[in-house]
Amino acid sequence: MDVKEAISKRRAYRSLSPVEITPELVDDLSQSASLAASCFNNQPWRYIFVYEKEILEKMHEALSDGNKWAHKASMIIVVTGKQDDDCVIKDRIYYRFDIGMATAHMILRATELGLVAHPIAGYSPRKTREILKIPEDIDVIALVIVGKHSDKIDPDMSDEQIAVEKKRPKRIPIESFVFHNKYMGKL
Ligand SMILES: Cc1cc2nc3c(=O)[nH]c(=O)nc-3n(C[C@H](O)[C@H](O)[C@H](O)COP(=O)(O)O)c2cc1C
Repeated sequence: MDVKEAISKRRAYRSLSPVEITPELVDDLSQSASLAASCFNNQPWRYIFVYEKEILEKMHEALSDGNKWAHKASMIIVVTGKQDDDCVIKDRIYYRFDIGMATAHMILRATELGLVAHPIAGYSPRKTREILKIPEDIDVIALVIVGKHSDKIDPDMSDEQIAVEKKRPKRIPIESFVFHNKYMGKL
C-alpha cells in the first residue's frame, strides 16, 4: 500500500472485530510514530498501549456513552504528552501539533496493516488518568481505538454512526480551505 492509498483507505470505522495484539505490532506502530517530524526533534509523544484484558475492560468506564462501540477494541492507544517536552516559541505551543503528526503516522501504518485505528475525544481524561496512573502534569490528548473492521454492524451504534459506517462523512470543498498566495486568495 502506498501513502496515498493508506490515506484514502483510513476510516474511523466503529464496527470492530478482535485482532491479536503482539509485541511486534506495538513495536511497529511505535516505530512509525517515532519517525515523525517534531520541533527541534523534541519527540514529545508518550503512548500507553492498553491491551491487557483486565485493564482494557476497566478503560470502558472512561468511554463516553456515544463510544460504547469502542468496548470491542482489542487495544486502546492512549495519546499523552506535555507542553514542557516541546517547543514553546512566544505564544506558539507545539506539543499537540507534533503529537498529532506522530499519531497520524501510527494511524496510517495501522491502516496499511489492515487495522482500524480510530481516534476519539469522547472519554473522561480524569478516569483515564486514574485507571492508568497518569501523572497530573501529563495531558491525556486522545484515545486511538484499535481493532479489525467488521462487516457486522455493532448494535451499540446510533443510526447516524451506522450511516457513516457505510458512507464516508462529507468533506468541506477544497476551495473552502485552500488559498493561493494570500489568505482567501483564489486561483
Ligand atoms: C480528535 C478526534 C476526536 C474524535 N472523537 C470521536 C469520538 O469521540 N467518537 C467517534 O465515534 N468518533 C470520533 N472521531 C472520529 C471522527 O468522527 C471521524 O474521523 C470523522 O467523522 C471523519 O470520518 P472518517 O475518519 O471515517 O473519514 C474523532 C476524530 C478525531 C480526529
